[in-house]
Amino acid sequence: MCLTIPAKIIKLDGRYAVIQDATSAKRINVAMVPEVKVGDWILYAASTAVQKVSKKDAREIIDLLESQHPLADPTKLSDKFKKIIEASKKRALKKSEIIYLLRVEGAEKEALFSEADVVRRTYLKDFICIHGIIEFSNWCKNDCEYCGLRRQNTQVPRFRMGVDEIVKTAVDAVKKKGYKLLVLQSGEDLFYTDEMLVEIIQKIKAQCRVFIFMSVGERGYDCYQKMKAAGAAGALFRFETANPKLFKKLHPNGKNLSNRLKHLKFMRELGYYIATGSIIGLPGQTREDLAADILLMKKWANMISMGPFVPGAATPLAKQPHGDPEMNFKMIAILRLLIPMARIPVVTALETLAGENGRKRGLLSGANSLMFNLTPPKYRVNYKTYDNKFFQKEGMWEKYGLFKAEESFRMIKDRMGAELQRSGK
Ligand code: 5AD
Repeated sequence: MCLTIPAKIIKLDGRYAVIQDATSAKRINVAMVPEVKVGDWILYAASTAVQKVSKKDAREIIDLLESQHPLADPTKLSDKFKKIIEASKKRALKKSEIIYLLRVEGAEKEALFSEADVVRRTYLKDFICIHGIIEFSNWCKNDCEYCGLRRQNTQVPRFRMGVDEIVKTAVDAVKKKGYKLLVLQSGEDLFYTDEMLVEIIQKIKAQCRVFIFMSVGERGYDCYQKMKAAGAAGALFRFETANPKLFKKLHPNGKNLSNRLKHLKFMRELGYYIATGSIIGLPGQTREDLAADILLMKKWANMISMGPFVPGAATPLAKQPHGDPEMNFKMIAILRLLIPMARIPVVTALETLAGENGRKRGLLSGANSLMFNLTPPKYRVNYKTYDNKFFQKEGMWEKYGLFKAEESFRMIKDRMGAELQRSGK
């Protein structure tokens, strides 16, 4: 679903009103809420008022979204920084320039975030979506060193949701809560045959209109071809790190980066909307590696899927330090400069480290969506890619979603179409 935006009515003119939101005055259609008066607060989306709200509720969401960038003092910005920001307007940056931006602090860091915020508002307006993720199995045949679902972890109780249970969870999320984009994720679990994955997608699509993103790992061309034909819109598939040596070290059992890239290549050929990215702050990862991650995301991603490393208790990396949320915010901002139309969600791992404020800071540094966990609670507790996952205040955000509104589906469709066109499909 997409978020609505609160605004105060300052003038009425038949079916139209002039409103004032957090940033500017606009003219919108109020035909759907004919009872409104001057001074009332409404929620709007795409130039249409959808609902009247109390001033208190309006304030609540303004607080969630309002820009709080301290104005960066221009005298504190180096010539080099200004040159890089100017260059970023061509939507391309050299690796050395990206590394410079990954290092910025103080006024330059604030200026980087404000620039990304301006690009987001210019290209995507105040358009923020909430997507849902359903984690349907925590079985995994791999042994990724960072991941709590690794096969060698015998301490986590394993679960699998049945086909109909997955379908019902997804359809309820769409029909009862208004979600329009759902990620179905599992470990690499071959219990689910290609045919079962196809059946899940078809059964959901037969009951509701929703964009389905599959996140099931390295399943090969045939599986992805069948899932696309069944109606999947996107694939969420991280390359994890652009450094092939680091990749090898973290992924025993012969896994390699080139097979990940092969998957991304055929996903693009098949017309998938690709969500990909890396883990930030992996042990042994350098700033150069993170710059290479950004360039690889620029090459493959329509939607960014990256987050900080959070050590998992029963993994070989349990005692390693977690990734730096500030580095994550900088990466969000740089990617917003490079791919203005990309969908950039604030992911759970970032919220786990930075809390509710992580959501807000993420949105203010260029992110434009949130990913909420819709896994049934009895399973959710055991989907521990890492510990202490953050789940909070989701009801408050959902309250402002465009419940069941078809408009919200169309808005996502248009933007996904425009972004797929840019990336050459
Ligand atoms: N910290 C952060 N992200 C992790 N993932 C797995 N383990 C961790 C961790 N410890 C991410 C991987 C995977 C996704 C499902 O979860 O990037 O692709």
